[in-house]
Amino acid sequence: MRLRNIPRADAVLDACPLVVKEPVACRGKWNTDIFQNEHPIHIEIGMGKGQFLLTLAAQNPQVNYIGIERYSSVLLRAVEKLEAPLDARNLRFLCIDATTLTDIFSPGEVRRIYLNFSDPWPKARHARRRLTSKEYFSRYDRVLASGGQVEFKTDNRGLFDFSVEQLETSDLWELTACTYDLHHDGLMNEGNVMTEYEEKFSSLGNPICKLIAGRKSDRHICI
Ligand SMILES: C[S@@+](CC[C@H](N)C(=O)[O-])C[C@H]1O[C@@H](n2cnc3c(N)ncnc32)[C@H](O)[C@@H]1O
Repeated sequence: MRLRNIPRADAVLDACPLVVKEPVACRGKWNTDIFQNEHPIHIEIGMGKGQFLLTLAAQNPQVNYIGIERYSSVLLRAVEKLEAPLDARNLRFLCIDATTLTDIFSPGEVRRIYLNFSDPWPKARHARRRLTSKEYFSRYDRVLASGGQVEFKTDNRGLFDFSVEQLETSDLWELTACTYDLHHDGLMNEGNVMTEYEEKFSSLGNPICKLIAGRKSDRHICI
């Protein structure tokens, strides 16, 4: 998703107290300095206009949420949805590219990573840019806590098959759950919060795929 450049975006994000301007300085200190509690941190990479994360943050005050979006013109839409920014104590936004993830979070600092309708990067030479590539899973390994999980939804079957293959050929990661039709899977759909893209593509009749990935070494851990 890339909206046209919106001139006011940078000024609005600068003025929003929920947008963290220097996230590298927060590495290892998100709980103590930013949220000032010990609640688990869940992040969404490529949050788009924010419907998913804003809904979860309102539903789960006992979880800290951080939304990551690389385009200010897109993040602007999420910020503009907030009714009372100062009341959203468990929510922060970062306008960064996720390649910098390990500069932003220290090992074990993140409990869950959400990837929703990630850009497919269809050309084979761009495969490493896909958020479910081995390169990205290696970044996730460096920030996720023991027992932490990655949850991924998409209607793009090619990207989903690629993602499943990345996990099935990984020494470190494994699929812990998988469905090719989320909205008709009673168990996996329980409590599902729809994203903007999910609403759009499921209304066209596209089945939604979802997987949950965890580390093989965490099999015994319940969180
Ligand atoms: C197709 S949209 C999906 C938006 C939203 N998750 C949804 O499901 O409605 C993908 C979003 O991810 C963002 N994105 C893609 N790659 C990114 C990266 N490496 N770092 C941060 N954001 C990224 C894009 O700018 C875009 O807004």
